[in-house]
Amino acid sequence: MKLGFIGTGALSSAIVTGLKTLPGDTTSVILSPRNEAIAAGLAARFADVTVAADNQAVLDASDMVMLGVRPQIARDVLPGLRFRPDHHVVSLIATFSCAEIAAMVGPVKRLTKALPMPMIAIRKGPTILFPPDPEVAAFFGRLGNAIEVTSESEFDALSVATATYASYFKYLETIHGWLKDHGVEENKGRDYVSSLSAALGQAPETTPESFAHLAADYATRGGINEQVLRELTEHGTFERLKESLGGIHRRITAAS
Ligand SMILES: NC(=O)c1ccc[n+]([C@@H]2O[C@H](COP(=O)([O-])OP(=O)(O)OC[C@H]3O[C@@H](n4cnc5c(N)ncnc54)[C@H](OP(=O)(O)O)[C@@H]3O)[C@@H](O)[C@H]2O)c1
Repeated sequence: MKLGFIGTGALSSAIVTGLKTLPGDTTSVILSPRNEAIAAGLAARFADVTVAADNQAVLDASDMVMLGVRPQIARDVLPGLRFRPDHHVVSLIATFSCAEIAAMVGPVKRLTKALPMPMIAIRKGPTILFPPDPEVAAFFGRLGNAIEVTSESEFDALSVATATYASYFKYLETIHGWLKDHGVEENKGRDYVSSLSAALGQAPETTPESFAHLAADYATRGGINEQVLRELTEHGTFERLKESLGGIHRRITAAS
């Protein structure tokens, strides 16, 4: 496959890194020249990765084209490019509906929306896909976990969950900061919290039980987990989180 990228920024770079560190991968990757430093760095690091002269040259050399530009740049740039009917376009642009992208890529018949996360660079994490497409599912399945959905509203709802990363790290930072304030050496505390979060992250994969069941399992009656859970619940922490998710959902659906 000849895989082009329009926009070589953080997400495109993560996808190329995940792909090209796969043992035996032979995909030809053609990058647009912006960002110049990122594109040149990827081309220097990996075989079969080249930087095209401009965006049109990316399209001309590709079968599948990933759109990795920000929304406003997409509006400015895509309508001026000559897409072919046989191009398979995969849009990474979080806020655009399929209809909006279709309007910008002319004769293209095959269009998929994909929402990976940055950890795709180490082939971890989910990528949401709409509409289902076996080739794109196989591509992202090699780079983590491909989650196909059959409606754009389900895609939008799932994409709300991608707004929680920063708060997740703030939660870990709060625990780490508390440990430091109580005499735990900084690196030791970081190692401990990282290892703890990695281990807890595995727990749902070891059981078919619901998250509610896991929370109940870990909250031994009268124990310290039960106390923190009860106090955070009483403070409205989880209701606030739900309100924030609702706000993100309204923002995403209004944008698309
Ligand atoms: N990062 C994520 O985790 C993530 C997750 C989900 C979805 N997305 C979506 O993915 C898209 C890219 O996000 P990103 O985080 O990778 O953004 P980014 O790091 O800003 O990358 C966008 C790239 O587009 C380049 N660019 C600017 N003008 C261009 C042009 N005329 N032609 C070609 N390329 C041009 C920029 O180059 P310069 O640096 O030279 O301006 C930049 O390298 C966005 O639409 C975003 O919604 C991102």
